[in-house]
Amino acid sequence: MTMRVSIAVLLVVLTIPCLLHGADAVRRPTSKPLFPAIFSFGDSYADTGNFVRLISSVPFGNPPYGETFFRHPTGRASNGRLVVDFVAAAVSLPFLSPYLAEGQNFSTGANFAVIGATALDLAYYQQQNITTVPPFNTSLSVQLGWFDQIKPSLCNATTTRGCDDDDYLGKSLFFMGEFGGNDYVFLLAANKSVAQTKTYVPAIVKAIGDGVERLIQHGARRIVVPGNVPMGCLPIILTLYASPDPSDYDRYGCLHEFNGLARYHNEQLRMQVQALRIRHPHTAIAFADY
Ligand SMILES: *[C@@H]1O[C@H](CO)[C@@H](O)[C@H](O)[C@H]1NC(C)=O
Ligand SMILES: *[C@@H]1O[C@H](CO)[C@@H](O)[C@H](O)[C@H]1NC(C)=O
Ligand SMILES: *[C@@H]1O[C@H](CO)[C@@H](O)[C@H](O)[C@H]1NC(C)=O
Ligand SMILES: *[C@@H]1O[C@H](CO)[C@@H](O)[C@H](O)[C@H]1NC(C)=O
Ligand SMILES: *[C@@H]1O[C@H](CO)[C@@H](O)[C@H](O)[C@H]1NC(C)=O
Repeated sequence: MTMRVSIAVLLVVLTIPCLLHGADAVRRPTSKPLFPAIFSFGDSYADTGNFVRLISSVPFGNPPYGETFFRHPTGRASNGRLVVDFVAAAVSLPFLSPYLAEGQNFSTGANFAVIGATALDLAYYQQQNITTVPPFNTSLSVQLGWFDQIKPSLCNATTTRGCDDDDYLGKSLFFMGEFGGNDYVFLLAANKSVAQTKTYVPAIVKAIGDGVERLIQHGARRIVVPGNVPMGCLPIILTLYASPDPSDYDRYGCLHEFNGLARYHNEQLRMQVQALRIRHPHTAIAFADY
């Protein structure tokens, strides 16, 4: 229910430019896709099969992953579908092909998200001697590099579709995130306090904002920027940072210090999105609140 409502809100926000330009009216999804394509960047909340192709023998390639909807493991860190799957279905597009799957046709979109991906680069963490970040090199900027690689095949002078001709990228839907959750988990694993971890929020939020800027330079005009989930309610956080002091928990049984970290990230990210909107008034940029 909540998910349906949020998707409806996102679609309303992102189709406003259509109305302003007198193009397709906003309707309930029909067989005609509302967007020509969806391009998704992020981590395990969005990965539809990249990580399992990068690293074999991870749990995500085995049951019970995938058992309730696809009836087989797909590489999603879920037993069913992800938000991006529900969004694709809601706008009458096929599920997004993972970038690392071979022989895919990305004309209706591609998914660059990777389980465990960080907003900040691996090299940055290595320079800071933070060794808890796994050496997979799948950060936000690496994912944007993958997009650079497939862009010529999506729209170029030799295909019927040029990037500017029918504004294919301008009409497509982009998801920049969720990012940041893994950065915080790895920083905490490196024994940084929540207060120390908070000092990384501006750099992480800036990396997400820079990613949005790069998409806009590519021609993106409809971009969703998801925030962080209430971290203090995540089973992994509740397990690793269990406290004997009841006052560390809120009335829902979540660790409020960690929720404070996620809330701070989301406040900063909202401000970043607001600044991006002012700088790019012809681009619809939506903060999506989990
Ligand atoms: C990819 O799929 C689209 C739509 O189904 C089609 O028009 C296009 O020719 C395909 N491209 C390739 C390279 O197969
Ligand atoms: C990660 O990949 C990028 C792009 O392929 C490369 O430029 C960078 O050096 C790599 N970083 C590390 C730490 O291996
Ligand atoms: C990382 O470790 C190296 C070698 O121990 C040290 O020279 C360097 O100053 C450290 N860097 C930071 C940012 O702590
Ligand atoms: C243009 O797109 C076609 C079809 O996907 C592809 O085969 C070709 O390599 C692309 N051209 C360039 C210059 O990238
Ligand atoms: C964090 O602290 C624990 C307990 O003191 C220690 O066992 C662990 O090695 C530390 N981890 C790192 C990455 O420093």
